[in-house]
Amino acid sequence: MNWKAKWLAGLLFPFLLLACQSAEKETSINSIQDLKTKQYAVAGQVLYAAHCANCHQEDGSGLGMLIPPLKDSDYLKVDIARSVRIIRYGLKGEILVNGKEYNQPMPANPILKPIEIAQIATYIHTKWGKGEILIPIDSVNAYLK
Ligand code: HEC
Repeated sequence: MNWKAKWLAGLLFPFLLLACQSAEKETSINSIQDLKTKQYAVAGQVLYAAHCANCHQEDGSGLGMLIPPLKDSDYLKVDIARSVRIIRYGLKGEILVNGKEYNQPMPANPILKPIEIAQIATYIHTKWGKGEILIPIDSVNAYLK
């Protein structure tokens, strides 16, 4: 390579890396920096598998026209408080997720404790929301009021 090609490659490579990262719209739980956030997300992942994955699937991709995705969901990213209320109270009626209509009832989860809802919310918003975020119990209690 001549110097121009090297210079160009050096310039392009970081851009390509950035482009690949933004195409990967998922934050891995292993990469979480804050210890408490990580503890919540790890516990949340287990709870998600037990209470949510049947419908939304382990990878968050949803199920055809019946169950909306959580991964890459514009609806999820908009409002953390709303998603916390959905986890507790379920959801009925038509919603639009990424421009697609969904209209199947999601059941409520009256047995989940605020700490468990905080852990699930931390997991789904860190993994499929806008990146690493802790959703503490106090916030959950406030959102559910
Ligand atoms: C029995 C299937 C089922 C289970 C279990 C379930 N959901 Fe849902 N969920 C749905 C359906 C169906 C909708 C769309 C509701 C509507 O159309 O009004 C939905 C909507 C949502 C939404 C808003 C739409 C979106 O895609 O962003 C979120 C967030 C969500 N669910 C999270 C969860 C979480 C977290 C759990 C586990 C605590 C869970 N759900 C368990 C079926 C389910």
